Amino acid sequence: MGRIAPLPKALLIEGATIYDPATGKTRRGDLAVKNGRLIEPEKLGAAKVERLDARGALVTHGFIDIHAHFREPGREDQESLESGSRAALAGGFTRVAVMPNTLPAIDSPEMVRSLLEKAERLPIVLYVIGAISRGREGLELAELLEMQAAGALAFSDDGNPIADGQVLRRALQYTKDVGTPIINHAEDLPLRDGGVMNQSALSTRLGLPGNPVEAEAAMVHRDLLIAQETGGRLHVPHVSTALTVDLVRRFKEAGVPITAEATPHHLGLTEEALRQFDTNAKVAPPLRTEADRQAVVRGLMDGAIDCIATDHAPHTVEEKEQDMIQAPFGMIGLESAFGLANTVLGPAGLAIEKLIDLLTVGPARALGLELTPLEPGSPAELVVLRPDETWTFTEKDIHSRSRNTPMLGMTFNGRVVATISRGSWYTCT
Ligand code: DOR
Repeated sequence: MGRIAPLPKALLIEGATIYDPATGKTRRGDLAVKNGRLIEPEKLGAAKVERLDARGALVTHGFIDIHAHFREPGREDQESLESGSRAALAGGFTRVAVMPNTLPAIDSPEMVRSLLEKAERLPIVLYVIGAISRGREGLELAELLEMQAAGALAFSDDGNPIADGQVLRRALQYTKDVGTPIINHAEDLPLRDGGVMNQSALSTRLGLPGNPVEAEAAMVHRDLLIAQETGGRLHVPHVSTALTVDLVRRFKEAGVPITAEATPHHLGLTEEALRQFDTNAKVAPPLRTEADRQAVVRGLMDGAIDCIATDHAPHTVEEKEQDMIQAPFGMIGLESAFGLANTVLGPAGLAIEKLIDLLTVGPARALGLELTPLEPGSPAELVVLRPDETWTFTEKDIHSRSRNTPMLGMTFNGRVVATISRGSWYTCT
């Protein structure tokens, strides 16, 4: 449960441990916010100050998600910019980049501008990812540089892979000079061959069409080779297999300027989540085996993978109530991201500061964004965490318009207790 309200004019966050990912420094103390900006606590004045007891809590920069689906325009019944922003705040995210697989697709500078205009009133910072190809059809390049000039921060046909290597190559060549990343949804569709879950002994047992690890890894390998050849900026989304982690690591070691992300669900869940035919666990790329999951965790720990991104993908109850073949791919992830990631990565030996980096510095670097340091004058863009709090994720924690997650009922270690962003604050109740 939680509440989103206008930020008090004057707020004192007391007794916190403050970790600033922009500087890598940790200190103990108070943080003061006045009219949406950080100020020196002494300058707050005595009159009407709201207080937030943050003893035992960790305060840090708001999280940045570089991969979410807010479905506006076209499918606001699944998610709108407003409902997606509420889900973001509940998850500790103050900035979110939305994918262009909307109806119609965001594939023109006009559409980029219109979305950014609507985003002005949101309580989070919204970034727009434009489509690589017109209509996300993978054939003809969209107006990439014009979209970039209109404010698009990256390009992707997300949900649809760029099957034609020449189209991907041109996209990387055209955007090379401006440095805007190309994010290819890497799944070779003929290899995927209608697969709805990971191809394995379990898919055979369940009688469901399997999607082999090669469908992802072969396309990522092709994309990495093209990135190497062109020198363009490639970002590899939702890495799900051990093979892909190894490929990304190898190309990074060879000095190819690539970045990669992993989702909390590929870190924390395996194909076992599908054993009871739960369509909410049907996602693309699919949940894989325990060995793949561990490889993705290792990739994040050793820097082969740069950041965590949610791939928050809302779908209606009716859509997910279809059978395994018909139900759409995707699960929501903003509200559960920190809890799940911390539950998995903490015991694996990742320091909480490093996890925060994967949710702030890492995504910022992948999209070429600046982090604001936590110092007087900066806009208040904060998340308050209780890394040791154990809680059970239920429907009450969901602020998204959709409910499609296989994580309901799971117990997480580490909770977002408050988020402060653009004149709003979320508090967990
Ligand atoms: O599972 C997924 N759902 N993967 C994607 O790449 C697209 C997303 C969606 O838009 O629903």
